[in-house]
Amino acid sequence: MGQFPIARTTAPKQKPADDQLAFGKVMTDHMFLMNYEEGKGWHNPRIEPYGPLTLDPATSVLHYGQAIFDGLKAFRGDDGQIRLFRAQRHAERFNRSAQLMCMPELPVDIIRQSFDALVGVDADWVPRKAGTSLYLRPTIIATDVMLGVHPAHSLLYFLILSPVGSYYKEGVKPVRILASDKHVRAVKGGTGEAKTAANYAQSLAGQVDAAAAGYTQVLYLDGVHRKYLDEVGTMNIMLRIDDEIITPPLSGTILDGVTRASTLQLMRDWGLKVSERPITIDEVMEAGRHGRLREMWGTGTAAVVSPVGTLGYKGEDILINNGETGELTQRLYDAIVGIQYGRTNDPHNWTTIVPPAA
Ligand code: COI
Repeated sequence: MGQFPIARTTAPKQKPADDQLAFGKVMTDHMFLMNYEEGKGWHNPRIEPYGPLTLDPATSVLHYGQAIFDGLKAFRGDDGQIRLFRAQRHAERFNRSAQLMCMPELPVDIIRQSFDALVGVDADWVPRKAGTSLYLRPTIIATDVMLGVHPAHSLLYFLILSPVGSYYKEGVKPVRILASDKHVRAVKGGTGEAKTAANYAQSLAGQVDAAAAGYTQVLYLDGVHRKYLDEVGTMNIMLRIDDEIITPPLSGTILDGVTRASTLQLMRDWGLKVSERPITIDEVMEAGRHGRLREMWGTGTAAVVSPVGTLGYKGEDILINNGETGELTQRLYDAIVGIQYGRTNDPHNWTTIVPPAA
């Protein structure tokens, strides 16, 4: 597709200070847009000043939620280079979400070119402070204007950018997680594997209940037996019982997390025993009661590697590693972040350098 037309803003915004960054509160100066029409395919890629979208009130995404997104990050390294972490895998997952939500896929090289082009244009927005990054949010929405329920014939791809700090207000300190015996996130045959808007809308009620009970997030159990660990909604879950590292398998109900895959790869590289296997909440609580639940952490693009200090379930709280970040959790965090900022060797070539904008 080559170079994209760029309309630069005439009113650049004031950038927030790096130490004021939370998650996703501020957007950069530009956005990438591209349209799809049945019969014409994806067309009209362009970069424009960031601004509101105009949508007819009958636009189908507003009613039936046919929307997908992904999330990846760009990091400014100590060498001044800007690196994307696992852009290829994120682009492929975005297309997997598109398939699951009956949307036309976008060529992976166009998705990747849109990442590079927009980050290049807004390169000054990539923050500098340790722990900060530029979050990329590629999204596709259904734009048919009509109230029938059917896969859309017209869609909009847009990419927006946001300079971010930690996802959780705790920063990288251990969070409190509630395993819910009330709310479920997904069942096999549903949309649990897709990064689709609806999965996040339906997670709100559980999140509100968890917050009211003093927890940061919900750990969802499977929707059928209500006993196997699934995921947290904003992150995949991993734990260490004795010397076995366990994470739920990709069964169609959980997200195929990029940080999940990356940390599993690193732990295998390090020769650790890693099991992707079903695990029940009873097994986890029992291990916790006997001091065998040595560590627990979540993985996600936004959450990075996030230690879990307390696990609650049915009125019982298990304090994990005295509420402190575990040794393996810290090692994984340091290894992932080291690769992302280009401080350490990148043995699997997960990062790519963003070329400067023309
Ligand atoms: C991410 O980690 O990129 C996510 O999409 C999680 C959340 C902020 C929705």
